[in-house]
Amino acid sequence: MEFLVNNVDETICIGKQIGQLSNPGDIICLVGDLGTGKTHLTKGIAKGLNINDHITSPTFNIVNEYMGRLKFYHFDVYRVSDPDEIAAIGFDEYIFSQGVSVIEWANYIDELIPEEHIKIHIEKIDNSDSRKITINFSGKRYEYIKEIKL
Ligand SMILES: Nc1ncnc2c1ncn2[C@@H]1O[C@H](COP(=O)(O)OP(=O)(O)OP(=O)(O)O)[C@@H](O)[C@H]1O
Ligand SMILES: [Mg+2]
Repeated sequence: MEFLVNNVDETICIGKQIGQLSNPGDIICLVGDLGTGKTHLTKGIAKGLNINDHITSPTFNIVNEYMGRLKFYHFDVYRVSDPDEIAAIGFDEYIFSQGVSVIEWANYIDELIPEEHIKIHIEKIDNSDSRKITINFSGKRYEYIKEIKL
């Protein structure tokens, strides 16, 4: 699925629907260049999970945990140079739990991501606030993605 959003609010709107529809154990991988809007999309997902905390990127501590409708784990693996570093924080225990996990820069740790997951690419379009958001998923459990509308 592909969405063309024109501003931050529309990105958050897409994220919010994902958060509303998501189920325990869902794994959502975010891929896109610096500053494309991965963290803003994550803010929307958190909102959809009824989390009111201010969402900031966990760049230095790798993962931030929140509690909403479900537990929510927000990873940012940008600064991870070695996948072993991720294993060391107990990555598998987070992603194979009943929480919802969002992983910014998931492409850096491809080998640690289970086959069934949602993958979201965000791309900038002509130096504006427009973004192309492409959502792919593997696994029947993620069919709900088809319900998302802009
Ligand atoms: N349509 C849009 N969606 C998301 N962010 C947008 C959009 N238009 C403009 N922006 C701006 O782009 C920036 C996106 O920042 P954000 O931290 O979400 O990106 P990121 O992909 O997480 O970056 P990083 O790679 O550093 O983690 C913000 O300054 C935001 O205001
Ligand atoms: Mg970010």
